[in-house]
Amino acid sequence: MVITPLDFEFISTLIRGESAIVLDVGKEYLVEARLDPVVKSAGFASLAALVAELRHNGQGELRRKVVAALTTNETSFFRDLEPFNLLRSSVIPELIKKRESSRQLSIWCAAASSGQEPYSLVMMLKEAFPVLGNWQVSVLATDLCREVLERAREGVYTQFEVNRGLPVPYLIKYFEKQGGNWRIKQDLRKIIRFEELNLIKPFSGIFEMDLIMVRNVLIYFDVPTKSAILQKLRGVMRSDGFLFLGSTETTLGVDDHFERYVVGKGVCYRKKAS
Ligand SMILES: C[S@@+](CC[C@H](N)C(=O)[O-])C[C@H]1O[C@@H](n2cnc3c(N)ncnc32)[C@H](O)[C@@H]1O
Repeated sequence: MVITPLDFEFISTLIRGESAIVLDVGKEYLVEARLDPVVKSAGFASLAALVAELRHNGQGELRRKVVAALTTNETSFFRDLEPFNLLRSSVIPELIKKRESSRQLSIWCAAASSGQEPYSLVMMLKEAFPVLGNWQVSVLATDLCREVLERAREGVYTQFEVNRGLPVPYLIKYFEKQGGNWRIKQDLRKIIRFEELNLIKPFSGIFEMDLIMVRNVLIYFDVPTKSAILQKLRGVMRSDGFLFLGSTETTLGVDDHFERYVVGKGVCYRKKAS
């Protein structure tokens, strides 16, 4: 299934407009491979026929499915580990100290994919900070892609997925066996609100976040988009809040109003005092 240059240009323009994801020339193989299942499930004879339909009838479910198919949803439990060490050793203890009077914490996992990241965070909080059991801890997890959010809400993971990064004691304590898979127990699932949110759209209803994790998604965007998103993130973060990015992502050279917060090998970002 080979895509023509014109069809590739049409798809990459559509994806950029809908999600800000940049698909440069050279990524034709990716578009072909990712759209092949959509071509088949929607009953098109070819990728060219699917693109022709999108050109004619650009809105609606097909368009959404094409965008979803071209998102990269790679994730794992306790991905990269170091951010979770930094949260455990410094960030959460500091937030607990600062919010002692209100006993409230607001956490947002943006681009949460199929949920491993917010579930890792919540498991870590339960294990390391039992004091938070008496606090009001709100955890919002969002993503652009409806399909991954449905998986996240279900909280069902394969043996392969739980083998990637999840400590065995956590598996035993927080999951139950479901056939050949593992499901997060309900009391953990109900802590997290999963909602659809596109980072290039306004962050409606989100404000005063103490902790934001937006990891391994800015890499897909161009610099002006990264900069616009970081500016919006600043707008919904408390002045003494914390921002975590992916290990290959940075605010440096993109948004000068953040400063690095480094402890050992762990790095996150805080708003500079204005
Ligand atoms: C590689 S995953 C990262 C998942 C998780 N944060 C991690 O680090 O393991 C990137 C996620 O970003 C989402 N995404 C891509 N573009 C987005 C956008 N414009 N708004 C919100 N989410 C987006 C994708 O659907 C995907 O689930």
